[in-house]
Amino acid sequence: MSVFIKKFDTMKDGRDVQLVTLRNEAGTEVSVLDYGATLHSFVFNGQDIILGYDCIDDYVHANGSYIGATVGRVANRIAKGKFTLNGQDYQVACNEVSRGGHLHGGMVGFDKRFWDFSVVEEDKAPAVKFTLVSPDGEENYPGTLHVSVTFTLTADNTLELKYHATTDKDTIINLTNHSYFNLNGCNGQNILDTELCIHADEITPVDEVLIPTGEYMPVENTPLDLRVAKPIGSVIAGDHPQVAIAGGIDHNFVLAHESGEMREACWAYSAHTGIRLTCSTDLPGLQVYSGNFLEEKSGKNGMAWGHHQGFCLETQVFPDAINHDNFPSICLRADEEYNSCTRFHVECRSAKA
Ligand code: GLA
Repeated sequence: MSVFIKKFDTMKDGRDVQLVTLRNEAGTEVSVLDYGATLHSFVFNGQDIILGYDCIDDYVHANGSYIGATVGRVANRIAKGKFTLNGQDYQVACNEVSRGGHLHGGMVGFDKRFWDFSVVEEDKAPAVKFTLVSPDGEENYPGTLHVSVTFTLTADNTLELKYHATTDKDTIINLTNHSYFNLNGCNGQNILDTELCIHADEITPVDEVLIPTGEYMPVENTPLDLRVAKPIGSVIAGDHPQVAIAGGIDHNFVLAHESGEMREACWAYSAHTGIRLTCSTDLPGLQVYSGNFLEEKSGKNGMAWGHHQGFCLETQVFPDAINHDNFPSICLRADEEYNSCTRFHVECRSAKA
């Protein structure tokens, strides 16, 4: 197994940012920053298939899009930043100012924290385990939370993300990774002709500020029916109020009604490179986001990007779950352990000549 650690960059306050690279025998490489436990690159078959930046300043100051980051404590949205737990009301930051709600953990979420790390081995595969402690009351969430996320690269080109957490008081938690995939190899082409297949019969529809209404909506006869693969662009062009509200795909697809067994959630395929990505998880929800709000920027290796330059597969419990009794729970009790696993497997099928 091969693991390499090198300095990526230095923060303005003088702190060095480390980049940990895992490489398997097939030559596939995955690199992760200790800032935000951020997936910085995923190089397969000579193509880097995720968006990232060349310098830490862009990750720190230009990352309203949460490029590559580990997101927590609570990924996705909490309506008006309000929730009640054990009879006590909590108000967390309404940091998504344009929509008046809480997004992705608040003002300083896990994406903006430095994580400690150690190199480990998981079933003989190279792995790196990132850990952090989130103090009681951080971002107004209750309980001291000990969190870890372990990135493992297997010999068969699967990147596995294993999350673990414990708390000393009842709290809420919903962790995810916010990588933007571009299976064309991040060479400036957008993702509109990438095919996507999602194994979900329902979504949790949203209102105009992207908060779930609390209903379950069958995807049948809507552009969001991806049970048979379609190009992402054809979904975005689809005529449906849910697509119009989000400006594309930005929806929680219901994989199951509880966390539990590992299952294939979706796959995506680029005919340009022949790269097929399969995502599996034991979580019940998959927020698929087609990069609708990606701003025009210049990323790694001078790549220019804009809207729809990457898509996110955010495995998670449903958005705003704490405010909907009919959604699976995101509560973590003081005597419980949080465990979840997501796998991204890549392979090469035939590509266009
Ligand atoms: C998630 C949300 C999107 C957007 C991005 C970050 O995917 O669902 O609406 O906020 O994060 O830009």
